[in-house]
Amino acid sequence: MIPILRTVAEVRALARGWKQAGDSIGVVPTMGALHDGHLSLARRARAECGRVITTIFVNPKQFNNPEDLKKYPRSEEADAALLGTVPVDAIFAPEPEEVYPEGFITTVSVGGVAEPLEGRMRPGHFDGVATVVTKLFGMTLADRGYFGQKDWQQLQVVLRLTRDLNLPIEIVGCETIREGDGLAMSSRNVRLTAAGRRKAPVLYAAITAAADDIRAGQSDRMAIREAAEAMRHAGFDRVEYIELRDAATLMPSDDPARPRRMLAAAWLDGVRLIDNIPV
Ligand code: PAJ
Repeated sequence: MIPILRTVAEVRALARGWKQAGDSIGVVPTMGALHDGHLSLARRARAECGRVITTIFVNPKQFNNPEDLKKYPRSEEADAALLGTVPVDAIFAPEPEEVYPEGFITTVSVGGVAEPLEGRMRPGHFDGVATVVTKLFGMTLADRGYFGQKDWQQLQVVLRLTRDLNLPIEIVGCETIREGDGLAMSSRNVRLTAAGRRKAPVLYAAITAAADDIRAGQSDRMAIREAAEAMRHAGFDRVEYIELRDAATLMPSDDPARPRRMLAAAWLDGVRLIDNIPV
């Protein structure tokens, strides 16, 4: 059984001991409801670090929608069993009061890269992410932090804040893990109806087709419009955005010489899905 720690004092004591023994520490921050995407990060950390801590914390500060927070799936027992297959060395699963005790008043707020796209659609979201990630790094004394490219903008926000605040941690970005039909694995996928689940892969298919068309010389705007149409035609309720951006700054980019990323968010069955690919 992998130990499940609940307090900052416990995780700190464990991490200090590991450091004194000369082990490097990898942290894999998650909100639980684990799937193979999360596990791929834990496996990578396992291969690259002496010790691995997976954190499971549904961070209230990053939910701008209280309903979404309430409905967020929780499955700690199943999560612990999955992490046992990696295996990781410890699970840190604190209560909200442990992370945000009375009097807590500090916010880590990243500008620039955190502002467009997800930042605009979900006000306060990246402040919540940046704050909790900074705290988790401090709590676990980690040398490396593992994040998925599935949340591309989040990965760029974490890279930026780590650089800006000189945090002594290396950020490792890991490939998006997909279902056989292309749908990016996500804890939110379980909330799709059977019919919605059948339509969901169209998100990835549509942005993949648009990226191919752009590489083949089609105009960005035309390719994106066709992708949005394909998604609406497939039964998506709403396409929030499909954007071609500079991969690091997330600013609009029409310079094919620089790495670019196509990012999309859309609603299906009352579930918000996001995805992104290199262009
Ligand atoms: P969560 O959505 O649980 O995701 C935890 C980590 O798993 C993130 O780095 C995310 O990008 C990665 N991930 C999710 N699905 C993936 C997939 N299909 N392939 C590869 N990686 C995937 O992201 C968060 O939690 C939170 O914002 C957190 C960073 C934990 C801060 O609260």
